[in-house]
Amino acid sequence: MKIHFTLAGAPAVAGLATAGLLAGGITEKAAEPVTLTDAYSNYFLVGVAINQKQIDGEDQRGDPIIKAQFDSITPENALKWDATQPTPDGYNFTEADRYVEFGEKHHMTIVGHTLVWHNQTPGWVFQDKNGRPLSGTNAADRALLLARMRDHIHTVVGRYKGRIKIWDVVNEALNPNGTLRKSSWEKIIGPDYIEKAFQYAHEADPDAILRYNDFSLEDEPKQSAAIALMKKLLGEGVPVTAIGLQDHDQMKWPSAEREDETISAFAKLGLKVMITELDVNVLGGRRTAEVSEMASQGRANTYANGLPPDLERALAQRYADLFSVFIKHHNDISLVTLWGVTDADSWLNWRGQNYPLLFDREGKPKPAFYSVIKAAGEP
Ligand code: XIL
Repeated sequence: MKIHFTLAGAPAVAGLATAGLLAGGITEKAAEPVTLTDAYSNYFLVGVAINQKQIDGEDQRGDPIIKAQFDSITPENALKWDATQPTPDGYNFTEADRYVEFGEKHHMTIVGHTLVWHNQTPGWVFQDKNGRPLSGTNAADRALLLARMRDHIHTVVGRYKGRIKIWDVVNEALNPNGTLRKSSWEKIIGPDYIEKAFQYAHEADPDAILRYNDFSLEDEPKQSAAIALMKKLLGEGVPVTAIGLQDHDQMKWPSAEREDETISAFAKLGLKVMITELDVNVLGGRRTAEVSEMASQGRANTYANGLPPDLERALAQRYADLFSVFIKHHNDISLVTLWGVTDADSWLNWRGQNYPLLFDREGKPKPAFYSVIKAAGEP
């Protein structure tokens, strides 16, 4: 679709009422909608993480945005272990089934997130049936956990074989210092839990793209450790086919140059690169609890009354800079996913005082949205 910009530089946005929203800047011709998917159709898919309300069709603000703006979805929580296998007694696919049906109905590339992670995995997974913690020094315990992991991966991936095209198989296995995270998976099974997870996923769906997904892969020494890990897995024939750079970014971190180098470094390994959880924390990367504490002491500028215009502009520029880097690497990047639809949905939202995404709390496109659209139009 052709994108028309008005003289005011504000295109109409599909799924949103243009009257009022773009008042003054709109002509009839320019009212043709503009979308992220269309703007990026020559580069890569643009995806979004969706939450339970959105999966269930209960979010009237988010629904038209998801359908009009994005061509891929990731479930924010619906496919995590605690959602699909909360107890040892059985699986619960109610939400996950709806998620996949949503994606199929709207012809989207459907992502599965995530199979093996240290978070949102119920305690029973790492205990025997009497509640005794499984031990890394006990061969039977290792075998039991491997069997549980295999059953989980085969059941979940197998159920959606051919429908979920991309899986986050292992999530966040590395520490910031580059060592393997001492998760229960690592402690009980050992470091080879990673290759086992990929093998099981590949057995369950040989055609699926299998990702290793992590955050802060732009930083050293974590980046070098991730490269070494990927080289080792690829060298051993482990079926990892993609790297997920989460990109939970800040205004100044990582720099565009560093993002650029990071994508090149992973692409060089022969892996597909995907940006999997993009957002920009305008509160400077501090944890919400920290910000909450600072705010209660009157020490934090938490932007309770909206983002100041200079910061709004800086956020738009930040998004444009990031997308320019992604565009530069479009031959290696197949998908860029935003971690949430509107600022109101974001996991970073703290009492309505963070502004990490492209749509505001009312679902209106922010200056950052327009700058992302514009970045795609630049030569
Ligand atoms: C977050 C979700 O957005 C929250 O709703 C949930 O409470 C916690 O998890 N890295 C990941 C994602 O891989 O699964 C996390 O999602 C954000 C960090």
